[in-house]
Amino acid sequence: MRTHYCGQLSAALIGQQVTLAGWAHRRRDHGGVIFIDLRDREGLAQVVCDPDRAEAFKTADRVRSEFVLRIAGRVRARPEGTVNPNLASGAVEVLAESVEILNPSAPPPFQLDEDNLSEGVRLEHRVLDLRRGQMQQNLRLRHRAASAARGFLNAQGFIDIETPVLYKSTPEGAREFLVPSRLHDGHFYALPQSPQLFKQMLMIAGFDRYYQIVKCFRDEDLRADRQPEFTQIDIETSFLDEVAIRALMERLARHLFKEVLGVALPDPFPVLRYEDAMRDYGIDKPDLRVPLKLVELTDVMKDVDFKVFSAPANAADGRVAGLCVPGGGALTRGEIDAYTEYVKTLGAKGLAWIKVNERAKGAGGLQSPIVKNLHAGALAEVLARSAAADGDLIFFAADRAAVTNACLGALRQKIGHERGLAEKGWRPLWVVDFPMFEYDDDAGQWKARHHPFTSPKDGHEQYLESAPAKAYAKAYDMVLNGWEVAGGSVRIHRQEIQQQVFRGLKMSAEEQRAKFGFLLDALQYGAPPHGGIAFGFDRLVTLMAGADAIRDVIAFPKTQRGQDLLTGAPSPVTEKQLRELHIRLRSSPQ
Ligand code: AMO
Ligand code: AMP
Repeated sequence: MRTHYCGQLSAALIGQQVTLAGWAHRRRDHGGVIFIDLRDREGLAQVVCDPDRAEAFKTADRVRSEFVLRIAGRVRARPEGTVNPNLASGAVEVLAESVEILNPSAPPPFQLDEDNLSEGVRLEHRVLDLRRGQMQQNLRLRHRAASAARGFLNAQGFIDIETPVLYKSTPEGAREFLVPSRLHDGHFYALPQSPQLFKQMLMIAGFDRYYQIVKCFRDEDLRADRQPEFTQIDIETSFLDEVAIRALMERLARHLFKEVLGVALPDPFPVLRYEDAMRDYGIDKPDLRVPLKLVELTDVMKDVDFKVFSAPANAADGRVAGLCVPGGGALTRGEIDAYTEYVKTLGAKGLAWIKVNERAKGAGGLQSPIVKNLHAGALAEVLARSAAADGDLIFFAADRAAVTNACLGALRQKIGHERGLAEKGWRPLWVVDFPMFEYDDDAGQWKARHHPFTSPKDGHEQYLESAPAKAYAKAYDMVLNGWEVAGGSVRIHRQEIQQQVFRGLKMSAEEQRAKFGFLLDALQYGAPPHGGIAFGFDRLVTLMAGADAIRDVIAFPKTQRGQDLLTGAPSPVTEKQLRELHIRLRSSPQ
């Protein structure tokens, strides 16, 4: 059918006869000469059809956007002044000798090189959207990343083992997708949120090093970095401790970036304890490209005559903190108001600030609605701790620690990027030593922060049931430029510890058996120490591709509302299908 890809034509081929096959990207009629930009997976080639070749010219005249063509002709240099430096094949063109329409196309709903298409239109016409150069590049980058991951893991002795998609309902945190069983009335499979327990059982079964590039399913509210079905590079190892697992996973990340992007990530990655991350950045996935840190002020504000600050400063779970913005003195009232509105969407009641005009003058050199409320000692401490210089602005948040952290953590990253304070490049890190549990206010009980199979830190077993807030976990997240790209842990390999954790989560013995009997049983037959991690592959590729949302690196993603606009899923089914599945709807469709 063809001799070359369009995007591969180059000056080296001048004078040669070639046959190309692809889509008519654009057709231009230049009064007597017709130009066709022919497109295939490698790029564009300019084809010239002149009236001397009557047959080819007549066919070219009928060509419209997205027609599938086969074109034969001779490669020649483009005339002086018409060379296109933006195109791989921009120095040459093909003088067509024959043009064959392999398949016409209906007029496409949009021009492929149109910018600013709505995502709805793109997803509805995903087949055409995927023809676009950027999407072709994204998916090929994704392929290279998957191959590089496999290459590394294979070389390290990991073996790829598939695990079931029809699984048992064992909620791990997110809501599950359920699949009704036809053969067992009233019984359901669940789609796995991850292969977590299967990979642990593979370790108990002696496979030692497992990986799988695998789909996971979570019925959660969607965001730019979340899909209901997404892909993990899922990994588990036996007989490695936390430090050794992290070292190996770091090597995998470095290998991926080297192979796919030619980028050398730092060696080693910095390691930050969870508590230090919260203290300095207010968030457990800090974007280290933003070189700002929060300033602790809780102790300073305990005795100020300003309830907004002193009340949280004296409350057990309160925190007062500041964020010094270099050059922030230039912020207008309108800009400050906009940041205030922003933190209010995150739960803040307000956002106090001080502009440092002339630090040397003390309180007199400060401009702020709150200076009058703070005594000289507190102001001096604020200036000292924040190291504010003339021309800077300090923001303050005072609330429950969770709110203060959420607000200043997000504000730090927003301001850092908006005001051009962020560095370029890649700033990976590990966040480690997470708490085992977090209190779920809605449910009124403790739940596992990572998952309930995560090992406590040595010596923390004693807290599992009596003081859950004190128990820390051998859990770690890999964070890159503000995204959690991987999360993992050392697992519990002793049955009695696993039972303690379940009891800490207020799971009765019956519930433990019903949900996790298979795990508890497996753990009693010589489970090796083991642990692992899962990379969010879509997120990793999104970052590598410089895309805005993970939908741009997934061939057929769902919308924010969980719909596949291309095929129309989810869709109604027939009464008969439902009857077979023993499901009765109050008002069944059809
Ligand atoms: P976790 O739940 O942290 O761990 O998931 C691992 C990584 O998967 C990515 N991720 C997602 N990506 C897209 N859409 C989603 N809805 C989504 N949810 C998670 C994140 C995350 O870091 N079994 C454990 C891993 C382990 O302990 O080994 C697990 O699934 O990048
Ligand atoms: P007020 O005394 O309520 O007018 O507030 C004075 C300043 O404190 C304003 O700039 C408010 O935005 C700010 N503020 C109010 N509540 C908080 C809070 N919880 N944390 C930080 N600043 C606040």
